Parts: sequence; C-alpha cells; structure tokens
Amino acid sequence: MTVHFIGAGPGAADLLTLRGRDIIATCPVCLYAGSLVPDEILSHCPDDAKIINTAAMDLDAIVAEIKAADAAGQDIARLHSGDLSVWSAMGEQIRRLKTEGIAVSVTPGVPSFAAAAAALGTELTLPGLAQSVVLTRTPGRASSMPEGETLSNFAATGATLAIHLSIGNLDTVIADLTPAYGADCPVAVVYRASWPDEQIIRATLETLKASLDESISRTALILVGPALAGEGFTESCLYSKDYDRRYRPQSAESPWSSWSHGDD
Ligand SMILES: C[S@@+](CC[C@H](N)C(=O)[O-])C[C@H]1O[C@@H](n2cnc3c(N)ncnc32)[C@H](O)[C@@H]1O
Repeated sequence: MTVHFIGAGPGAADLLTLRGRDIIATCPVCLYAGSLVPDEILSHCPDDAKIINTAAMDLDAIVAEIKAADAAGQDIARLHSGDLSVWSAMGEQIRRLKTEGIAVSVTPGVPSFAAAAAALGTELTLPGLAQSVVLTRTPGRASSMPEGETLSNFAATGATLAIHLSIGNLDTVIADLTPAYGADCPVAVVYRASWPDEQIIRATLETLKASLDESISRTALILVGPALAGEGFTESCLYSKDYDRRYRPQSAESPWSSWSHGDD
C-alpha cells in the first residue's frame, strides 16, 4: 500500500500532470484538500472510490483514514493544490507515515506562482532586472516566520518576489517593500490564477492598495519587482548571434565545434 502525494495544480483541471491523473485513476481512496482542488480533478477517481475532503480534518484524523486504507491494502491518492514542495503540509504527513512504516510517492504539480506568471504572460527572470525568484509569505495566524526571512531582507536583493498567503497583509507588504523597491515598482496581483474567475490587477507599490477590490481576500499571489514591468531588460546570450555555444559553435576553432550530443 502506498500514499501517493500528488500536486493537483493551481486550479484549471487540465493543469494536472498525466502522471498525477493516471495515479488518481488507480487509487480506491482519494483524500483531497478541498478548498483549492477543483471537482473536475476528482472525476479521474474510479467510480467506486472513497473520496474524502480533508479541509475540515486535523492531522490525526487524516492519518487515521490513511491507516484504515493501509489495513485494507488500499492505495491512496493524496491531493494538494499547486505543487507539493511549498505550503502543502506534506512534510508533516510524510513524517507521521514514516513512523507508521507506510510507503509514499510524490508527484509534482504546477505551482500557483507559475500559473500566475503565465496569466501575466511574464518571465520572472529578465536579464539585467532580476535573476532570482523568491517564493515567500508573510506571517499568518497559524505560522510565524523564521528570523531573517523578512520581506525587507528579500527586498534588499532586488529579486522578483512571489508573495503567497498574504493578500490580507497588504499594508505590511507595501510598507516593507517600498523602501527597497521604490513606490513606482511594478506589482501584479493574480487572483485564482487559471480558474474561470481569475483576475489580474497591475499596479505599482504606491497604487496597489487603491487598485485592489476588497473582495479579493484570499487565493491570490502578489508578484513584485522590476521584472514585472516586462521592459527595460537586456536580451539573453542564449539566442544572441555571436554567442559561442554548444548548440551553435561560431567557428571551427570553437571549443564546441567537435562536440556531439553524445558527449553530454
Ligand atoms: C496553502 S498555499 C498553497 C500553495 C501551493 N502548494 C502552490 O504550489 O502554489 C495557498 C496560497 O497559494 C497561493 N495560490 C494558490 N493557488 C492559487 C491560484 N490559483 N492563484 C493565485 N494564488 C494561488 C495563494 O497565495 C494562496 O494563499
């Protein structure tokens, strides 16, 4: 018996991986984090599958369901929104399952920051503007932040910030970022990226508060940094005419001219 953790993607049902879909179809039990996993994804479960929304359950109750399936020899599809590597609570579940001797597998999903960038049609790492993306959040009721992981520390790097779980902390976000990025720094908020009711708000740190409808109070990403302007960047070397590279040696003397794909 195995618990298959599957990243269910940001919302659109067709942003589930083929591997995730196929595993779901083989599992007689499916536990899903109900608030952000769309119902269409559950249609991949077998017709007679036991399907449980874990939104209102605590960790003990979830582990109890898993142990019951384990005792019956039934595999479980465990669905969380986006990807599992960030804010999925997978870590604490796997730690418990290890002590129970229950096997797990992990299938990645499309994270919400990638869906938000796609909705904006934006590359978050534009040459000369930003070459790093920080996936972060502000403290919440249930989660404090480790010392050092402050927005102002991340802002000092000038990187693109993808701020999760923080639309309710907008005043703090703006106050902490403005000294480093400047009031005219571009910002985008993407609400429910890839869902049918997706909304995009483009603003600057200065205009963000006034631009945002108060109905946007959850499931939104705040993206901040010079790269959000989508202009003022240099071209990368990758497609530059004169850049000597493995796939496009510039002369017979190039170290890459005798390279073949089999060498890599
Ligand atoms: C508990 S975290 C889950 C993150 C998820 N594991 C991921 O890979 O993106 C929930 C937060 O992720 C962001 N989020 C999740 N889905 C989103 C979406 N479709 N559009 C915008 N933000 C989303 C929001 O900031 C939300 O508060």
